[in-house]
Amino acid sequence: MKKLIAIFSLALLPLVGFASDAVHLESANIDLTDHAAMQRGAKYFVNYCQGCHSLKYFRYENMQKFGLTKDQIRNNLMFSGGKVGDLMTTAMPAAASAEWFGTTPPDLTLTARLKHGGADWIYTYLKSFYVDESRPFGVNNVVFPNVGMPHVLMELQGVQEAVKEKDEHGNMHVKELKLVKPGRLSAEEYDEMARDLATFLTHVAEPVKLERQHLGIWVMLFLLVFFVISVMLKKEYWKDVH
Ligand code: HEC
Repeated sequence: MKKLIAIFSLALLPLVGFASDAVHLESANIDLTDHAAMQRGAKYFVNYCQGCHSLKYFRYENMQKFGLTKDQIRNNLMFSGGKVGDLMTTAMPAAASAEWFGTTPPDLTLTARLKHGGADWIYTYLKSFYVDESRPFGVNNVVFPNVGMPHVLMELQGVQEAVKEKDEHGNMHVKELKLVKPGRLSAEEYDEMARDLATFLTHVAEPVKLERQHLGIWVMLFLLVFFVISVMLKKEYWKDVH
């Protein structure tokens, strides 16, 4: 029994660890069947993000999966030529970018799976930039403190300032963000844009997620039926022995 308790508490340890320093994430409420959202997200990605970030494990042509034709992909989402079968690399040279940003902008193919919170993390991250003159690009981020990424969507979102307060240990932390200068989009429109990007990046991180979950149900059903059959078989084989 003692062993069992020890094993369980070890299993729970990571959860406790995460909970203590986790920032509050907003729910992105994404819908992986929403093809229109993914198409918009893809458009935003190539326009606002691919200048720095690659999706180097994802091919342009994979976007057919959410309803785009090869021609639409070629004409609207590929700016530097190439073939629709190409991987979505970035034109940003890694060495130079490391110098500009202090770090190379990471590949985002798997970010939605790597980050604790997934789509919610990306959604909240895109909404959490605020003015901080002490940082090289003049912005900081609540969910990614001292981030090396400039707020590339500031013109759309507007400028946010942090309202800070002291916590019980006397450390300052961000209580909330206040929009001090509106951008080109309303708050609702910007949320929608962040949600579309999170939806697209979640799809990219695991394009077969829906199929996998769908298949899982059939596998469970199969196991259930097989269990019944094997119990019946066992009874049949053993009936003369007992
Ligand atoms: C000007 C270059 C640049 C552009 C454009 C840019 N980013 Fe970034 N991004 C960075 C850099 C640099 C980092 C790494 C920050 C760090 O490690 O401090 C980063 C980090 C990130 C991260 C965290 C990844 C991780 O694994 O920690 C996400 C998510 C992200 N960017 C999303 C986006 C999205 C979505 C867009 C488009 C709306 C975008 N970025 C546009 C430079 C850029």
